[in-house]
Amino acid sequence: MSRRNLVLVVVAAVAAIVVGVAALVLRPDDSGSPESATSSSIAPTSTSTTALVGSPGAAGVGDPYFPELGNGGYDVISYDLELVWDADAGRLSGSTTIVAEATQDLSRFNLDLSGLEVLEVLVRRQPATFVREGRELVVTPATAIAEGSSFTTEIRYEGRPEPIRIGTDLFGSGWQIDGREAYVASEPAGAATFFPVNDHPTDKATYSFNVTAPADQVVAANGMLVGEPVAGPDGTLTWTYETDDQMASYLVQVAIGDFELWNAGGPDLVYVRHALHRSFAEQAKVTLERTGEMIEVLSDVFGPYPFDVYGVVAVDEPLGFALETQTLTLIGSDVVANGRASDDLLVHELAHQWVGNAVSPATWRDIWLNEGFATYAEWIFLERTGGPTAAESARRYHRLGQDVIDDPPGEPGSEELFAPSVYLRGGMTLQALRETIGDDAFFTLLRRWVSDNEDKTASTEDLVKLAEQISGKDLDQLFNDWLYAKGAPSLG
Ligand code: ARG
Ligand code: ZN
Repeated sequence: MSRRNLVLVVVAAVAAIVVGVAALVLRPDDSGSPESATSSSIAPTSTSTTALVGSPGAAGVGDPYFPELGNGGYDVISYDLELVWDADAGRLSGSTTIVAEATQDLSRFNLDLSGLEVLEVLVRRQPATFVREGRELVVTPATAIAEGSSFTTEIRYEGRPEPIRIGTDLFGSGWQIDGREAYVASEPAGAATFFPVNDHPTDKATYSFNVTAPADQVVAANGMLVGEPVAGPDGTLTWTYETDDQMASYLVQVAIGDFELWNAGGPDLVYVRHALHRSFAEQAKVTLERTGEMIEVLSDVFGPYPFDVYGVVAVDEPLGFALETQTLTLIGSDVVANGRASDDLLVHELAHQWVGNAVSPATWRDIWLNEGFATYAEWIFLERTGGPTAAESARRYHRLGQDVIDDPPGEPGSEELFAPSVYLRGGMTLQALRETIGDDAFFTLLRRWVSDNEDKTASTEDLVKLAEQISGKDLDQLFNDWLYAKGAPSLG
């Protein structure tokens, strides 16, 4: 970002008149360059109170794997994303409005943002100072914000989003560009590639989206389409989506392309709609045939489906992975082409709506709570629909996966969040637990896990506690052996 954009705001403080101090100047720590000169000042208007000073919000929430993710000092209530997609240039212009509540007296605070150029930041409608430091956008409002008060921040920005590479992952995380089309795959830390965000699951919020794209494209996003797309003067359409449920930032989906929006119908209380690339829409409808049945079976296992809408967005690329973006799972042409053989994967992504999305991992080290549970859901779905029992599936994978389940799933390391052991040995951990505490306690636990932690995050420790409470057994040894020891225990 160009330093010319820096605006330093001087706040005059007040008790001054009595005490004899004239003014309080708020500066970002690193604004000492000659260009960041004072550019405006606001005269004191009151004579009765001392100006709030506050202190800077933390630059991260202290995740053990990604300490820089997220930020301290505030809690986001809602994001309003306005995105304009220039399909030919592959560029985005955005305006993000964030309503947050201060959790301390704040002199300044950070958002996560990677790449892109920031044009303007307003806090409570006043121009705010901002600087970029790596993936931190440091915002200093004109006046400090009192603990417990809510405040609105608007950020205007533009550019070509660049995915972030993490560890050994095959794809960069974030906004993905495929010719004129685009979609999102952010887990764990890519949301910051297309909007300024408190980018950690511990700060869930509600979202609304206004996405403008060329009129020959269709936009799909989390939640419900609100009304019909609105035509702009320049051959564009603007699509509005809203989601009232709490959502972690890595689960945001915005997909823009040649999609058919298909209302598939589904079980009571769940509206099932999909966004299917027109190049294979009819084939996708066959692949997705069992969605309603899957929702019913998993609702029986984990409790009522946690949101009011579900479906997939199927993009025209063989992704080699799928992602459980909230209420709108991302799949690729490979999953569509595999037909019935994709049932396991579709159950897996659907299961994440309960385990991962409604209940999110407290830290990224707890990723097995997502992947182990979703893998186990695949095995339960088979068990409940005439296939092998989960006990059989777990043992089969124990045999087949012998060389990948050596690594402890409870501590995969930041570079290997999605290692096979996290999925397979994570699932086996739940089978071992089930055999130790019995079916009654185990299935009570699955439902309580969701109902106790819905809309929040939970940790491995929370799971151990709840399992011990429900079963009345000491389970430390079991969880230690399965989650943290080198070499997988035997399933007997
Ligand atoms: N949560 C996704 C799943 O359903 C993970 C996708 C793989 N992600 C990655 N960054 N490699 O398993
Ligand atoms: Zn998964």
